[in-house]
Amino acid sequence: MERVAVYPGSFDPITNGHLDIIRRGMRFFDRMIILIAYNPNKSGLFTVEERTDLIKKVIGDEPRIRIDSSSGLLVDYVKKAGGNVILRGLRAVSDFEYEFQMALINRRLDRDIETVFLMTGYKWFFTSSNLIKEAACHGGSVRGLVPDIVLHRLEEKYSKDRSGTK
Ligand code: PNS
Repeated sequence: MERVAVYPGSFDPITNGHLDIIRRGMRFFDRMIILIAYNPNKSGLFTVEERTDLIKKVIGDEPRIRIDSSSGLLVDYVKKAGGNVILRGLRAVSDFEYEFQMALINRRLDRDIETVFLMTGYKWFFTSSNLIKEAACHGGSVRGLVPDIVLHRLEEKYSKDRSGTK
């Protein structure tokens, strides 16, 4: 049986922590779908199109990885896409309760789909897209925490904000 993992997240924006999970996850799965799961009533810093474009640029030409977006129920997407596993990264202890709840509700919604966790690399243990955005928004350097292209896009977004042109 082909092992197809769906790696869902907001990816607003993709970070080096996400990339670490993607790279390591690819050793266990035949294919991976990176799914930008978004709420149409909430706007992020980057639009879904911008997030997709950034992920495409960062991943490059990897035929076993597809990038997609959805605003629906995750398990429905996984089933439709022919996936059998939801892949999530686990960081510090604070992630655990939320991730445990999500894994349980998803299993209750569809017992055929399992959630598999990879412990994040120690370098990314305390970083998240939200903290990275907060630091970048105040002019802090997030170099090394995100791919260079993301760093430049963050700088563009926030320098516009600071100069009042947005
Ligand atoms: O990167 P995030 O924000 O931690 O990702 C959370 C995400 C998008 C994976 C989660 O909110 C999600 O799965 N949303 C889709 C709706 C859904 O199926 N929720 C879980 C069952 S109620």
